[in-house]
Amino acid sequence: MKLPMPPKPAAGKEFALLFAQDILAERIAELGQEISKDYAGKNPVLVGVLKGCIVFIADLIRHISIPVELEFINASSYNGGLHRDSTVKLGDEPEISFRGRHVLVVEGVVDSGNTANKIMNLIRRQEPASIEIVTLLDKTKCREIAVDIKYRGFDAENHFVIGFGLDKDQKYRNLPFIGRVLNED
Ligand code: IMP
Ligand code: MG
Repeated sequence: MKLPMPPKPAAGKEFALLFAQDILAERIAELGQEISKDYAGKNPVLVGVLKGCIVFIADLIRHISIPVELEFINASSYNGGLHRDSTVKLGDEPEISFRGRHVLVVEGVVDSGNTANKIMNLIRRQEPASIEIVTLLDKTKCREIAVDIKYRGFDAENHFVIGFGLDKDQKYRNLPFIGRVLNED
């Protein structure tokens, strides 16, 4: 089956293509293989950070060949649109215990690092055997707090990105590629 073509960036458009579907698929397959190798013989718990993780985690787990468990946590930091609100709101903690478990936090994008930092601290209190982060996109230039990221798909520079689970005002999550928002203001 032929995959739908992403729209071509054009004058007056809200976004331009940044990472196409085939590029994303190839990199996600590599990440899955790397994780399968690193966690061989273990049974890690993947903790997806909602909602941005959804498309990435769905693709990633299908490239992981070892047994994994899935949990999710809700987080919100942006006030809907492009402008950052550094107060991160976390939803209820997953009900399982992370004590002694190998935990892999799965993010769509790490930007200031506030969300990832808060989630890592929350889980660390339960004394997991290990805790790492895998993010599809990393905006290293936008960091306000240092976070140690073991697995990253791509560096998204300082672009505001949409698609593949990521939103602007809750829109665009369903785009099958990653675009960068034009005229950010
Ligand atoms: P951080 O706490 O600043 O690292 O931001 C992380 C959260 O902000 C992510 O989980 C996303 O929900 C949202 N976010 C950050 N950058 C972007 C972006 O470029 N596009 C869409 N959402 C973003
Ligand atoms: Mg958002």
